[in-house]
Amino acid sequence: MSDITVDFSPAAAPLAEKLLEPAREIIARYPVGRERSALLPLLHLVQTVEGHVSPDGVAFCAEILGINKAQVGAVATFYTMYKRRPTGEYLVSVCTNTLCNVLGGQEIYDGLTEHLGVGHDETTADGKITLEHAECLAACDYAPVVTVNYDFAIDEATPDAAVGLVEKLRNGERPTPSRGARLCTLKEMQFQLAGFADEREGAVADGVAGAPTLRGVTLAQEHGVAVANFNIDTPITTTKPARDESAKAVKDPAPAGAKPPAAKSEGKIASAAKRAAGAVKTAAAAVVDKAEHAVEHRKAGAPVKAGDVKDPEVRAAETRNPDGSTPTPDASQTVAPVPGTRTEAAGTAKNAPAGDGKPAGDTQRGESIVSEANAAHEEQSTASENPGWQNAQRGTEEKK
Ligand code: FES
Repeated sequence: MSDITVDFSPAAAPLAEKLLEPAREIIARYPVGRERSALLPLLHLVQTVEGHVSPDGVAFCAEILGINKAQVGAVATFYTMYKRRPTGEYLVSVCTNTLCNVLGGQEIYDGLTEHLGVGHDETTADGKITLEHAECLAACDYAPVVTVNYDFAIDEATPDAAVGLVEKLRNGERPTPSRGARLCTLKEMQFQLAGFADEREGAVADGVAGAPTLRGVTLAQEHGVAVANFNIDTPITTTKPARDESAKAVKDPAPAGAKPPAAKSEGKIASAAKRAAGAVKTAAAAVVDKAEHAVEHRKAGAPVKAGDVKDPEVRAAETRNPDGSTPTPDASQTVAPVPGTRTEAAGTAKNAPAGDGKPAGDTQRGESIVSEANAAHEEQSTASENPGWQNAQRGTEEKK
Protein backbone atom coordinates (compact mmCIF):
# COMPACT_ATOMS: atom_id res chain seq x y z
CA MET A 1 0.00 0.00 0.00
CA SER A 2 2.90 2.31 0.74
CA ASP A 3 3.78 2.57 -2.97
CA ILE A 4 0.25 3.03 -4.25
CA THR A 5 -0.58 5.92 -6.49
CA VAL A 6 -3.98 7.50 -6.13
CA ASP A 7 -5.63 9.79 -8.60
CA PHE A 8 -6.95 12.33 -6.11
CA SER A 9 -10.05 14.40 -6.82
CA PRO A 10 -9.72 18.21 -6.88
CA ALA A 11 -11.19 18.28 -3.34
CA ALA A 12 -8.58 15.92 -1.90
CA ALA A 13 -5.58 16.99 -3.98
CA PRO A 14 -4.39 19.96 -1.85
CA LEU A 15 -4.28 17.80 1.29
CA ALA A 16 -2.66 14.95 -0.63
CA GLU A 17 0.12 17.30 -1.64
CA LYS A 18 0.94 17.98 2.01
CA LEU A 19 0.07 14.67 3.65
CA LEU A 20 0.69 11.89 1.17
CA GLU A 21 4.01 10.73 2.65
CA PRO A 22 2.95 10.58 6.32
CA ALA A 23 -0.36 9.07 5.24
CA ARG A 24 1.47 6.29 3.44
CA GLU A 25 3.62 5.73 6.50
CA ILE A 26 0.51 5.35 8.66
CA ILE A 27 -1.16 2.96 6.23
CA ALA A 28 1.99 0.83 6.02
CA ARG A 29 1.61 0.08 9.75
CA TYR A 30 -1.44 -2.06 9.06
CA PRO A 31 -1.57 -5.55 7.55
CA VAL A 32 -2.26 -5.88 3.86
CA GLY A 33 -6.02 -6.00 3.33
CA ARG A 34 -6.66 -4.15 6.61
CA GLU A 35 -5.59 -0.70 5.47
CA ARG A 36 -8.97 0.80 6.28
CA SER A 37 -8.04 0.43 9.96
CA ALA A 38 -5.69 3.37 9.40
CA LEU A 39 -8.68 5.69 9.24
CA LEU A 40 -8.45 6.89 12.86
CA PRO A 41 -4.83 8.12 12.69
CA LEU A 42 -5.45 9.48 9.20
CA LEU A 43 -8.26 11.66 10.53
CA HIS A 44 -5.87 13.03 13.16
CA LEU A 45 -3.34 13.63 10.40
CA VAL A 46 -5.89 15.65 8.46
CA GLN A 47 -6.44 17.74 11.59
CA THR A 48 -2.74 18.66 11.70
CA VAL A 49 -3.40 20.84 8.67
CA GLU A 50 -6.98 21.93 9.08
CA GLY A 51 -7.53 21.77 12.83
CA HIS A 52 -10.75 19.94 12.03
CA VAL A 53 -12.05 17.35 9.56
CA SER A 54 -13.45 19.25 6.59
CA PRO A 55 -15.25 17.71 3.59
CA ASP A 56 -11.90 17.86 1.78
CA GLY A 57 -10.32 15.91 4.64
CA VAL A 58 -13.06 13.31 4.36
CA ALA A 59 -12.44 13.04 0.61
CA PHE A 60 -8.69 12.62 1.16
CA CYS A 61 -9.15 9.81 3.70
CA ALA A 62 -11.75 8.06 1.55
CA GLU A 63 -9.66 8.21 -1.60
CA ILE A 64 -6.39 7.10 -0.08
CA LEU A 65 -8.06 4.17 1.68
CA GLY A 66 -10.35 3.23 -1.20
CA ILE A 67 -13.51 3.50 0.88
CA ASN A 68 -16.46 5.82 0.45
CA LYS A 69 -17.06 9.19 2.06
CA ALA A 70 -20.08 7.97 4.03
CA GLN A 71 -17.84 5.42 5.76
CA VAL A 72 -15.31 8.10 6.67
CA GLY A 73 -18.08 10.42 7.81
CA ALA A 74 -19.57 7.74 10.04
CA VAL A 75 -16.28 7.47 11.95
CA ALA A 76 -15.45 11.18 11.95
CA THR A 77 -18.82 12.09 13.44
CA PHE A 78 -18.74 9.35 16.08
CA TYR A 79 -15.67 10.44 18.05
CA THR A 80 -15.57 13.82 19.77
CA MET A 81 -11.83 14.19 19.14
CA TYR A 82 -12.57 14.70 15.45
CA LYS A 83 -13.78 18.25 15.15
CA ARG A 84 -16.40 19.07 12.58
CA ARG A 85 -15.72 22.76 12.25
CA PRO A 86 -12.72 25.06 12.61
CA THR A 87 -11.31 24.86 16.11
CA GLY A 88 -9.16 27.32 18.06
CA GLU A 89 -5.45 27.06 18.63
CA TYR A 90 -6.13 25.71 22.12
CA LEU A 91 -8.94 23.33 22.98
CA VAL A 92 -9.81 23.93 26.62
CA SER A 93 -11.78 21.03 28.09
CA VAL A 94 -13.45 21.29 31.47
CA CYS A 95 -14.58 18.06 33.07
CA THR A 96 -18.16 18.34 34.25
CA ASN A 97 -18.63 14.66 34.97
CA THR A 98 -19.74 13.39 38.35
CA LEU A 99 -16.71 13.77 40.59
CA CYS A 100 -15.37 16.94 39.00
CA ASN A 101 -18.84 18.40 39.03
CA VAL A 102 -19.32 17.73 42.72
CA LEU A 103 -16.02 19.49 43.34
CA GLY A 104 -16.80 22.56 41.22
CA GLY A 105 -16.38 21.55 37.56
CA GLN A 106 -19.58 23.24 36.49
CA GLU A 107 -18.60 26.52 38.21
CA ILE A 108 -15.30 26.45 36.33
CA TYR A 109 -17.07 25.85 33.03
CA ASP A 110 -19.64 28.59 33.73
CA GLY A 111 -16.85 31.01 34.71
CA LEU A 112 -15.03 30.37 31.43
CA THR A 113 -18.22 30.67 29.41
CA GLU A 114 -18.90 34.05 30.94
CA HIS A 115 -15.30 35.25 30.63
CA LEU A 116 -14.78 34.10 27.03
CA GLY A 117 -18.31 34.74 25.78
CA VAL A 118 -18.54 31.32 24.13
CA GLY A 119 -20.40 28.11 24.92
CA HIS A 120 -19.68 24.44 24.40
CA ASP A 121 -17.75 23.69 21.20
CA GLU A 122 -17.52 27.36 20.32
CA THR A 123 -14.42 29.39 19.53
CA THR A 124 -13.45 32.88 20.61
CA ALA A 125 -13.43 35.56 17.91
CA ASP A 126 -9.60 35.72 17.97
CA GLY A 127 -9.47 32.02 17.06
CA LYS A 128 -7.38 31.20 20.13
CA ILE A 129 -9.67 29.21 22.41
CA THR A 130 -12.32 26.59 21.80
CA LEU A 131 -14.20 25.71 24.97
CA GLU A 132 -15.84 22.39 25.64
CA HIS A 133 -17.23 20.59 28.60
CA ALA A 134 -16.00 17.05 28.70
CA GLU A 135 -17.01 13.78 30.24
CA CYS A 136 -14.56 12.11 32.60
CA LEU A 137 -11.00 13.07 31.61
CA ALA A 138 -9.57 10.11 33.49
CA ALA A 139 -8.07 12.20 36.27
CA CYS A 140 -10.77 11.93 38.93
CA ASP A 141 -8.02 11.72 41.56
CA TYR A 142 -7.17 15.36 40.77
CA ALA A 143 -10.74 16.59 40.31
CA PRO A 144 -11.81 19.04 39.10
CA VAL A 145 -9.51 19.06 36.08
CA VAL A 146 -9.00 21.23 33.03
CA THR A 147 -7.04 20.06 30.00
CA VAL A 148 -5.56 22.02 27.11
CA ASN A 149 -5.27 20.05 23.89
CA TYR A 150 -5.66 16.86 25.95
CA ASP A 151 -2.75 17.66 28.30
CA PHE A 152 -3.52 18.10 31.99
CA ALA A 153 -3.24 21.84 32.42
CA ILE A 154 -4.80 22.39 35.86
CA ASP A 155 -5.37 19.83 38.59
CA GLU A 156 -7.78 20.62 41.42
CA ALA A 157 -8.81 23.62 39.37
CA THR A 158 -10.75 26.70 40.44
CA PRO A 159 -12.70 29.20 38.31
CA ASP A 160 -10.00 31.87 38.85
CA ALA A 161 -7.17 29.51 37.88
CA ALA A 162 -9.02 28.52 34.71
CA VAL A 163 -9.61 32.15 33.69
CA GLY A 164 -5.93 32.91 34.39
CA LEU A 165 -4.91 30.00 32.16
CA VAL A 166 -6.97 31.05 29.13
CA GLU A 167 -5.78 34.65 29.47
CA LYS A 168 -2.15 33.50 29.31
CA LEU A 169 -2.90 31.39 26.26
CA ARG A 170 -4.61 34.29 24.53
CA ASN A 171 -1.58 36.46 25.26
CA GLY A 172 0.68 34.02 23.47
CA GLU A 173 2.17 32.40 26.58
CA ARG A 174 2.39 28.69 27.14
CA PRO A 175 1.93 28.20 30.88
CA THR A 176 3.49 25.20 32.57
CA PRO A 177 0.86 22.50 33.03
CA SER A 178 0.21 20.78 36.36
CA ARG A 179 1.52 17.52 35.02
CA GLY A 180 3.03 15.94 31.95
CA ALA A 181 4.34 17.44 28.75
CA ARG A 182 4.43 21.14 28.02
CA LEU A 183 1.44 22.58 26.24
CA CYS A 184 1.31 22.66 22.46
CA THR A 185 -1.19 23.78 19.86
CA LEU A 186 -4.07 21.59 18.82
CA LYS A 187 -2.52 20.98 15.40
CA GLU A 188 0.78 19.93 16.99
CA MET A 189 -1.10 17.55 19.25
CA GLN A 190 -2.85 15.98 16.26
CA PHE A 191 0.55 14.98 14.90
CA GLN A 192 1.22 12.98 18.05
CA LEU A 193 -2.26 11.48 17.95
CA ALA A 194 -1.61 10.38 14.38
CA GLY A 195 1.20 8.27 15.79
CA PHE A 196 4.31 10.35 15.14
CA ALA A 197 6.94 11.33 17.68
CA ASP A 198 6.96 14.99 18.58
CA GLU A 199 10.61 16.03 18.58
CA ARG A 200 10.15 19.35 20.39
CA GLU A 201 11.92 19.61 23.70
CA GLY A 202 9.56 18.73 26.53
CA ALA A 203 6.87 17.53 24.14
CA VAL A 204 6.75 14.21 25.93
CA ALA A 205 7.04 13.94 29.67
CA ASP A 206 6.49 11.41 32.35
CA GLY A 207 6.58 11.39 36.10
CA VAL A 208 5.87 9.40 39.18
CA ALA A 209 2.30 8.90 40.32
CA GLY A 210 1.22 11.57 42.81
CA ALA A 211 -0.28 11.08 46.26
CA PRO A 212 -3.92 11.45 45.10
CA THR A 213 -3.37 8.73 42.49
CA LEU A 214 -1.82 6.41 45.07
CA ARG A 215 -4.39 7.13 47.78
CA GLY A 216 -6.17 3.80 47.29
CA VAL A 217 -2.92 1.84 47.51
CA THR A 218 -1.86 3.78 50.61
CA LEU A 219 -5.18 3.11 52.35
CA ALA A 220 -5.01 -0.58 51.42
CA GLN A 221 -1.53 -0.80 52.90
CA GLU A 222 -2.59 1.01 56.06
CA HIS A 223 -5.51 -1.39 56.56
CA GLY A 224 -3.66 -4.54 55.50
CA VAL A 225 -5.96 -5.18 52.52
CA ALA A 226 -4.43 -7.16 49.68
CA VAL A 227 -5.53 -9.13 46.67
CA ALA A 228 -5.57 -12.83 47.49
CA ASN A 229 -2.35 -14.56 46.41
CA PHE A 230 -0.95 -11.35 44.96
CA ASN A 231 2.80 -11.51 44.64
CA ILE A 232 4.57 -8.34 43.60
CA ASP A 233 7.63 -10.36 42.58
CA THR A 234 5.75 -12.33 39.92
CA PRO A 235 7.97 -11.98 36.84
CA ILE A 236 6.47 -10.30 33.81
CA THR A 237 6.86 -12.54 30.77
CA THR A 238 8.40 -10.71 27.89
CA THR A 239 8.54 -13.62 25.48
CA LYS A 240 5.62 -14.28 23.17
CA PRO A 241 3.49 -17.16 24.43
CA ALA A 242 3.61 -20.32 22.31
CA ARG A 243 1.03 -20.33 19.57
CA ASP A 244 -2.14 -22.16 20.49
CA GLU A 245 -2.45 -24.55 17.57
CA SER A 246 -5.82 -25.85 18.73
CA ALA A 247 -7.28 -22.32 18.51
CA LYS A 248 -5.78 -21.94 15.04
CA ALA A 249 -7.37 -25.20 13.97
CA VAL A 250 -10.81 -23.90 14.99
CA LYS A 251 -10.23 -20.54 13.28
CA ASP A 252 -8.70 -21.88 10.05
CA PRO A 253 -10.25 -25.27 9.33
CA ALA A 254 -8.16 -27.47 7.07
CA PRO A 255 -9.07 -27.34 3.35
CA ALA A 256 -11.15 -30.15 1.89
CA GLY A 257 -9.04 -33.21 1.24
CA ALA A 258 -6.33 -32.18 3.69
CA LYS A 259 -5.08 -34.74 6.17
CA PRO A 260 -7.08 -34.42 9.40
CA PRO A 261 -5.19 -33.41 12.58
CA ALA A 262 -4.18 -36.08 15.05
CA ALA A 263 -7.17 -37.88 16.50
CA LYS A 264 -5.95 -37.21 20.03
CA SER A 265 -6.06 -33.38 19.76
CA GLU A 266 -9.33 -33.51 17.79
CA GLY A 267 -10.83 -35.53 20.60
CA LYS A 268 -9.61 -32.98 23.13
CA ILE A 269 -11.12 -30.01 21.26
CA ALA A 270 -14.38 -31.78 20.63
CA SER A 271 -14.80 -32.83 24.23
CA ALA A 272 -13.88 -29.33 25.52
CA ALA A 273 -16.45 -27.80 23.16
CA LYS A 274 -19.03 -30.37 24.24
CA ARG A 275 -18.36 -29.67 27.91
CA ALA A 276 -18.66 -25.88 27.38
CA ALA A 277 -21.89 -26.24 25.38
CA GLY A 278 -23.31 -28.59 28.03
CA ALA A 279 -22.40 -26.17 30.83
CA VAL A 280 -24.10 -23.25 29.06
CA LYS A 281 -27.20 -25.33 28.36
CA THR A 282 -27.44 -26.53 31.95
CA ALA A 283 -26.87 -23.04 33.32
CA ALA A 284 -29.47 -21.56 30.98
CA ALA A 285 -32.01 -24.19 31.96
CA ALA A 286 -31.29 -23.57 35.66
CA VAL A 287 -31.90 -19.85 35.30
CA VAL A 288 -35.13 -20.39 33.34
CA ASP A 289 -36.32 -22.78 36.06
CA LYS A 290 -35.33 -20.37 38.78
CA ALA A 291 -37.09 -17.44 37.07
CA GLU A 292 -40.26 -19.45 36.56
CA HIS A 293 -40.16 -20.64 40.13
CA ALA A 294 -39.67 -17.09 41.38
CA VAL A 295 -42.63 -15.80 39.35
CA GLU A 296 -44.89 -18.50 40.77
CA HIS A 297 -43.54 -17.90 44.25
CA ARG A 298 -44.37 -14.22 44.01
CA LYS A 299 -47.77 -14.96 42.52
CA ALA A 300 -48.53 -17.05 45.57
CA GLY A 301 -47.82 -14.00 47.76
CA ALA A 302 -44.77 -15.50 49.43
CA PRO A 303 -42.14 -13.00 50.60
CA VAL A 304 -39.09 -12.71 48.32
CA LYS A 305 -35.83 -13.54 50.07
CA ALA A 306 -32.98 -11.18 49.27
CA GLY A 307 -29.35 -12.21 49.04
CA ASP A 308 -29.62 -15.90 48.26
CA VAL A 309 -25.98 -16.94 48.57
CA LYS A 310 -26.36 -19.12 45.51
CA ASP A 311 -27.33 -16.14 43.34
CA PRO A 312 -24.94 -15.58 40.43
CA GLU A 313 -24.76 -11.90 41.43
CA VAL A 314 -23.54 -12.81 44.91
CA ARG A 315 -20.94 -15.17 43.54
CA ALA A 316 -19.79 -12.55 41.06
CA ALA A 317 -19.47 -9.95 43.81
CA GLU A 318 -17.34 -12.33 45.87
CA THR A 319 -15.10 -12.92 42.89
CA ARG A 320 -14.72 -9.23 42.29
CA ASN A 321 -13.96 -8.35 45.90
CA PRO A 322 -11.80 -11.11 47.32
CA ASP A 323 -10.27 -10.82 50.73
CA GLY A 324 -7.61 -12.83 52.51
CA SER A 325 -10.02 -15.71 53.19
CA THR A 326 -11.31 -16.04 49.61
CA PRO A 327 -10.07 -19.34 48.15
CA THR A 328 -8.15 -19.25 44.90
CA PRO A 329 -10.45 -20.21 42.01
CA ASP A 330 -9.69 -23.56 40.42
CA ALA A 331 -9.21 -22.82 36.73
CA SER A 332 -10.03 -26.41 35.71
CA GLN A 333 -13.50 -26.00 37.23
CA THR A 334 -14.29 -22.80 35.38
CA VAL A 335 -17.52 -22.95 33.40
CA ALA A 336 -19.20 -20.51 31.05
CA PRO A 337 -20.80 -17.44 32.71
CA VAL A 338 -24.28 -18.04 34.06
CA PRO A 339 -26.97 -15.90 32.43
CA GLY A 340 -28.43 -13.49 34.97
CA THR A 341 -31.99 -13.23 33.70
CA ARG A 342 -34.52 -15.32 31.89
CA THR A 343 -34.15 -13.23 28.74
CA GLU A 344 -30.36 -13.66 28.83
CA ALA A 345 -30.78 -17.38 29.33
CA ALA A 346 -33.16 -17.70 26.37
CA GLY A 347 -30.72 -15.67 24.26
CA THR A 348 -27.75 -17.79 25.28
CA ALA A 349 -29.58 -20.99 24.46
CA LYS A 350 -30.71 -19.79 21.03
CA ASN A 351 -27.77 -17.74 19.83
CA ALA A 352 -25.29 -19.36 17.53
CA PRO A 353 -21.87 -17.73 17.77
CA ALA A 354 -20.93 -15.44 14.90
CA GLY A 355 -18.34 -17.51 13.10
CA ASP A 356 -17.76 -15.81 9.78
CA GLY A 357 -14.53 -14.22 10.99
CA LYS A 358 -15.38 -10.95 9.28
CA PRO A 359 -15.05 -7.60 10.98
CA ALA A 360 -18.26 -5.86 11.99
CA GLY A 361 -19.77 -3.88 9.18
CA ASP A 362 -18.51 -6.19 6.45
CA THR A 363 -21.63 -8.29 6.25
CA GLN A 364 -23.82 -8.11 3.21
CA ARG A 365 -26.42 -6.19 5.18
CA GLY A 366 -23.77 -3.82 6.48
CA GLU A 367 -22.55 -3.15 2.96
CA SER A 368 -26.05 -2.39 1.75
CA ILE A 369 -26.61 0.03 4.65
CA VAL A 370 -23.36 1.79 3.84
CA SER A 371 -24.13 2.02 0.13
CA GLU A 372 -27.61 3.41 0.87
CA ALA A 373 -26.06 5.96 3.22
CA ASN A 374 -23.51 6.83 0.57
CA ALA A 375 -26.18 7.33 -2.09
CA ALA A 376 -28.13 9.58 0.28
CA HIS A 377 -24.95 11.48 1.05
CA GLU A 378 -24.15 12.04 -2.64
CA GLU A 379 -27.68 13.32 -3.23
CA GLN A 380 -27.46 15.69 -0.28
CA SER A 381 -23.99 16.93 -1.24
CA THR A 382 -25.16 17.98 -4.69
CA ALA A 383 -28.31 19.60 -3.30
CA SER A 384 -26.61 21.71 -0.66
CA GLU A 385 -23.25 23.19 0.27
CA ASN A 386 -23.46 21.60 3.70
CA PRO A 387 -21.76 18.20 3.43
CA GLY A 388 -24.15 15.39 4.33
CA TRP A 389 -21.96 13.94 7.07
CA GLN A 390 -21.52 17.21 8.90
CA ASN A 391 -24.12 18.53 11.31
CA ALA A 392 -25.38 22.04 10.82
CA GLN A 393 -23.61 24.47 13.09
CA ARG A 394 -25.43 24.85 16.33
CA GLY A 395 -26.04 28.60 15.95
CA THR A 396 -27.38 28.25 12.42
CA GLU A 397 -29.66 25.46 13.44
CA GLU A 398 -31.10 27.36 16.34
CA LYS A 399 -31.79 30.46 14.31
CA LYS A 400 -33.90 28.54 11.76
S1 FES B 1 -14.92 12.99 36.74
FE1 FES B 1 -13.57 14.51 36.03
S2 FES B 1 -11.79 13.45 35.55
FE2 FES B 1 -13.15 11.89 36.14
